[in-house]
Parts: sequence; C-alpha cells; structure tokens
Amino acid sequence: MIDSRFVRITEVGPRDGLQNESGIVPATEKIALVNALGHASFPEIEVTSFVSPRWVPQLADAAEVMAGIERRPGTIYSVLCPNEKGVERALAANAGKISIFTAASESFCQRNLNATIEESIERFRPVVNAARAAGLPLRGYVSCVVECPYEGLISPEQVGETVRRLLALTDGDIEIALGETLGVADPDQIEQLLEEVEIDVAVSAIDLHLHDTRGKALSCVARALDCGIRAFDSSCAGLGGCPFAPGASGNLATEALLEFLEGASWTTGVDRNAVLEAASIAKRITGRAADA
Ligand code: HMG
Ligand code: MG
Repeated sequence: MIDSRFVRITEVGPRDGLQNESGIVPATEKIALVNALGHASFPEIEVTSFVSPRWVPQLADAAEVMAGIERRPGTIYSVLCPNEKGVERALAANAGKISIFTAASESFCQRNLNATIEESIERFRPVVNAARAAGLPLRGYVSCVVECPYEGLISPEQVGETVRRLLALTDGDIEIALGETLGVADPDQIEQLLEEVEIDVAVSAIDLHLHDTRGKALSCVARALDCGIRAFDSSCAGLGGCPFAPGASGNLATEALLEFLEGASWTTGVDRNAVLEAASIAKRITGRAADA
C-alpha cells in the first residue's frame, strides 16, 4: 500500500551546490559528501552534471566522482545532461537517472544552455533516446517557473508551454521538476503555478525544486503539499545556486525541510542525523563555518 504521508526528497547538494562554488572542490571531497548523504538513505541523490567543463568547470570531474562513490541499494544516483555528449558520458559513468534541463524563460535558457528553448528540446532528443535504450528514468527540469533573473515575472502559462514541450518529447514519460531558480516565490504563486501544470501532468509526476533566497521556501512547501505535491528537492547545508542566475542563493536546506516535514507527521525515510553529518562535511569542503 502506498503511504499517503510519504514525501520523496531528492538531495541535490552535490550537483546544485557544488556547481556554484567559486573554488574547485576536489573530487575526493565530493565523493565523501555523496557517500555521507548515502548513509541518510535518500531515494535519490543528484550527484553531478555532464555539462561542458568550459561552462561549468566546477563539475569537470563528473566521471571521476561517479566512479568513486559508493552506491547504496535503494538510492538513485542521478545526473544532469544537456546534450548527446553529456548522455554518452553519463551512461559510461553508470548514472541511475538522466535529468534534462530547460527553462520557461528564453533569456535564461540562452544564458544557461546557449540555445533557445526549442533548440534545447531538440538537443534533448538523443539524450531521451539513449536514456530509454538504457532503461533509465528521466527528469525534465523547467527553470524560472516564477521569476527570471533577466525577464522578471514568468507566467504559469509560459511554464505550461515548456512543460508541454517536454511531455511531447517524451510521450509524457518523464518526471517534471519545477525549478524556482531565484528563490523568491510566495505560496500563492506556487499554487497558481501548480494549478496550471497539473492540467497536463499527474500530480505524482511533479517535483518542486525550490531555492530559498527570501526564506519563503518552507511556506511554499506547505502550500504545495496542500496542492498534492509529494516530491521536493533540497540541499544539505542549503548549498546551491546557478552560475547563470545572478541573485539566486542556495536551495531549501534538507535539514530544515526534514524538520518541517517530521514536525507535521510526514515520513521521508531519510535519516536526519546522517543528513546533519553530511551537512557538516558540506560546510567544511565549501569553506563555510561549521556552525553557519
Ligand atoms: P556551447 O558552447 O553552445 O556548446 O554550450 P558546444 O557544443 O559548442 O561545446 C562547447 C565545448 O564544450 C566543446 O569543447 C564541446 O566539446 C564541449 P571544445 O571543442 O570547445 O573543447 N561540450 C561538452 N563537454 C563535455 N560534456 C558535454 C559537452 N557539451 C559540449 N556534455 C552547452 C552548450 C549546453 C554544452 C553549455 O551551455 C553547457 O554545458 N551548459 C550547462 C549549464 C549548466 O550546467 N547550468 C547549471 C545547471 S541548470 C540549474 O542549475 C538549474 C536547476 O538547478 C533548476 C533551477 O534551480 O531552476 C537544474
Ligand atoms: Mg537549482
């Protein structure tokens, strides 16, 4: 029987967090972080991205990191791929899930992928085919679901348009991750967004990826739970940010999300003490004060 109080958390700190550090974190430290997160029994850990090292030098060691981590049964080790070259590298590294990523804003897509939204979708075609042939599940991120750093407010209808392009590309067989890239949304905006996206996507296939620049992410989680959402991304120690989204800060911190969910009697299967240990590793390797 499906536990109706179960919330699925994807830990994205190693990818979303470490892509945005000004210094390069050594692969051995990244591996230690992923292994520590593995002890927390997340259903999914987003480990790294197979993107251009010219664009994101922080993750140039993606293959080395994937080769070095311990893989815990029950945890999916997922990665981001922008194009065919990315998916070839990801499959060679034995990735457990492939995430493609585009946006609801043309300007952000251009800055992030050097492509229009339509071009980004075309580049995903071989990625989707390769992931399917390898039997891997797919996630499709849509960034800037509420606001874009270059265009300002984005309407739910614009988000719906990009979502439908991802659904058409994959015959609907994809998890949709709604990226609130800037971390500025309030609960009403999240509710309006979800009302639009839920027209096309089953609520069970929607994941919410919140950054937390204005400290409102937990109230957005509460509203999303009311709207039926049961999958959220978060990042240990609140790491996170996007090099192509000036002004964005970290993701919603996993520790805070767990405390909130446990306090409201939701279950996650994630061990909070193990997350706290991983968070202290995250702070150490990124040079944040241990008590920050
Ligand atoms: P481009 O410059 O247009 O592409 O970049 P290109 O095909 O001309 O390639 C440029 C160079 O990169 C070439 O190397 C390629 O071989 C190489 P050179 O010949 O110059 O030596 N290259 C690659 N190398 C390794 N792996 C690859 C790869 N692809 C090309 N996969 C491209 C286009 C898409 C490659 C580039 O724009 C890119 O890599 N972008 C990634 C940006 C990124 O990672 N952003 C952060 C993740 S998104 C995010 O954080 C938001 C999210 O968290 C949700 C939210 O919060 O909203 C997901
Ligand atoms: Mg993000």
